[in-house]
Amino acid sequence: MNWNEYRKNFPDRYWKESFFDKLLLDFLSRENIKEVLDFGGGKYGTEILNNPVFSVYFQDPFVTKPDWQKSPEPNQKFDAIVARGCINYLTLEEISSLKNRLKPNGYLIFNSFEKEPQAYEKTFIDGKGEICLEKAYCKDGVVHHIIEKHEERISHTFFYYTPDQYHKALGSFKLERYGKNSIVIIVQNT
Ligand SMILES: C[S@@+](CC[C@H](N)C(=O)[O-])C[C@H]1O[C@@H](n2cnc3c(N)ncnc32)[C@H](O)[C@@H]1O
Repeated sequence: MNWNEYRKNFPDRYWKESFFDKLLLDFLSRENIKEVLDFGGGKYGTEILNNPVFSVYFQDPFVTKPDWQKSPEPNQKFDAIVARGCINYLTLEEISSLKNRLKPNGYLIFNSFEKEPQAYEKTFIDGKGEICLEKAYCKDGVVHHIIEKHEERISHTFFYYTPDQYHKALGSFKLERYGKNSIVIIVQNT
């Protein structure tokens, strides 16, 4: 899976500005957050954070760093960690350990699924204008996602976690629903 090619290969509904981004900006502004780790932000970064009020740090091992982001110091702690569209690639242990990278009272904010994703097949037009078929199904807590193109098949997997599993890994949190099956979870480091 080449994450540098994500926007060329995947449907734009995954990365274009959404309810999550608006909620994120409102929340970070209200809480006067300054230093943010953009965890798994991808090649372009979480673009709603590209604003002079924030110092945004990069952590995504699979893409090149966007110019507008900074490299974090080892052991640096943050006012907030944002994980947009990427928490489901981590194990529950890795998710739990993200809290150690927050300053006291700092926040971890991410989006995910509320219920187990149902199997589906849909066509979409990719970033090169090609008609593609997207398929997904979930088995034993692992979502299998496949994109079929003219001459290429891109498949990858990610985890599905219940809100209860997030609760066990992270302690109490605020949960907000959006779309058909999406949630935003906000955890405060206490
Ligand atoms: C579905 S893409 C989402 C990209 C971007 N955040 C967005 O919303 O458009 C998943 C991203 O998670 C990143 N990723 C996967 N495993 C990761 C890990 N262990 N640590 C940090 N980032 C990771 C990938 O490199 C990729 O950029």
